[in-house]
Amino acid sequence: MDLETLLFSQGFGSRRQCRGIVAEGRVRIAGVVRDDPHADLSVTPGLEFEVDDHLWPYREKAYIALNKPAGYECSRDPQHHLSVFHLLPPQFVERGVQSVGRLDQDTTGLLLLSDDGAFVHAFTSPKRKVPKVYLATVRHPLDDAQLSKLREGVLLHGESKPSVALAAVRRDEWLVELTVLEGKYHQVKRMVAAAGNRVEKLHRERVGGYALPGTLAEGAWRWLDEADLAALRREPDTTP
Ligand code: URA
Repeated sequence: MDLETLLFSQGFGSRRQCRGIVAEGRVRIAGVVRDDPHADLSVTPGLEFEVDDHLWPYREKAYIALNKPAGYECSRDPQHHLSVFHLLPPQFVERGVQSVGRLDQDTTGLLLLSDDGAFVHAFTSPKRKVPKVYLATVRHPLDDAQLSKLREGVLLHGESKPSVALAAVRRDEWLVELTVLEGKYHQVKRMVAAAGNRVEKLHRERVGGYALPGTLAEGAWRWLDEADLAALRREPDTTP
């Protein structure tokens, strides 16, 4: 791979723009300026490069976790709020990163993003039931009947089969931890409403066995590594 292609693959613009960035001497590898766009490069795992003094890891595919704040839409073309893509470097949009499913604008927590179409499909396909763990703050005190309904299944408007919570654990009187397998529109809010309560705040804590890192500030993102991807494919531990 040459340097122009490397930058192009990582979302630094059109081929012409990438060629320009290199030719202007703005790229360094291992501290050395590399200004020949067609210089051959051995792209090995762990390759890092600098553009305008900013260090980037080379990633064949981008897998990202964002701690989504409230007030952001997952669409690239948002209707009423800013897009989550405002929180990410523009290179990600350029290389085709999309959100893996969607969270409502007022939902906070773990949002995955990737430019790997097969990965996005695998984690959003209704056939592949990926457990997702949410913390829902509710308006009315939780009671056992509501928790049982959530576990046994509630019929949502317009659905033919009940939606079931794999786990519904009371964290306190106003906070329930819900594990769901599907990702229907407003799924958790509708399930809680059907069980006789109302979601006031919603936060996603886990997808599969991958938990939102406690060190990831609201609005911040990080790359997912192999261990994170393996965790995503595991079942979450939902024991209280
Ligand atoms: N369920 C909801 O109701 N909203 C979300 O954002 C995610 C799951």
